[in-house]
Amino acid sequence: MHIWLLTNLSTSYIHFGLGISWSIVFASTLWQLWNRRNNLVFNSIFLPAGSIYHKSVVGARYYAESSLFSASGDSGPGTSRPVHWQRPEEGWTCLNTDGVVSTLNGFGSIGGVFRAHDGGWLLDFNKFIGFTQPLQSELWAILTGLRLARDNGYERLLIQSDNLKVITRLNATTATSDVNALVRAIARLRNVDWVTRFQWIPRETNKLADALVKLAASYDLSLFAVPPLPCNHF
Ligand SMILES: *[C@@H]1O[C@H](CO)[C@@H](O)[C@H](O)[C@H]1NC(C)=O
Repeated sequence: MHIWLLTNLSTSYIHFGLGISWSIVFASTLWQLWNRRNNLVFNSIFLPAGSIYHKSVVGARYYAESSLFSASGDSGPGTSRPVHWQRPEEGWTCLNTDGVVSTLNGFGSIGGVFRAHDGGWLLDFNKFIGFTQPLQSELWAILTGLRLARDNGYERLLIQSDNLKVITRLNATTATSDVNALVRAIARLRNVDWVTRFQWIPRETNKLADALVKLAASYDLSLFAVPPLPCNHF
């Protein structure tokens, strides 16, 4: 058991499908199994095994992005820098959202994550939204994120999205009279007493929100105040 743990934790093998070091995926999975066991024993909450896998992947991505971030300062000239999450300024909370629609049945899911300026995990959410269009799912993800940010008292919010069309439309001065009801709802919510700002980011840096969307398994909004991996060491 001891050797098995050490071997898995110290390998330099990269998980092919995920592009993340196997040792991170392994540690993340152990952490999820431990949480699952504790939830069952102490809270009588049973989590299906499938959700453990998804949570482990989300946790591994989060950890991998965080460690890429801290390592990037050390890379010398000429080394290619990995694409990583872009922090907001101090005092700001960052929201990454994503919405996806299944090409098989047209059913959509949304998800998002809130992070503090130092990268600390604040909250994440995901939700299954039923039959929808890609634009609508992107908008639902942002509106849900904005509502949660209000509920949690995040007063300066940087909304990062990889969808330039959506950002441009939402950020236009005409957004409050847009033909789309979700665009209007988002514009109205931005106009209350807080500061929100949009930032376009490349698709590769939005992987965490993307992974969370794929976690969506029910129509109820799932909130995780506890990160899928312990994050006190970054
Ligand atoms: C949004 O609009 C504001 C004000 O018009 C502008 O300063 C800002 O650069 C815009 N942001 C994006 C991401 O387009």
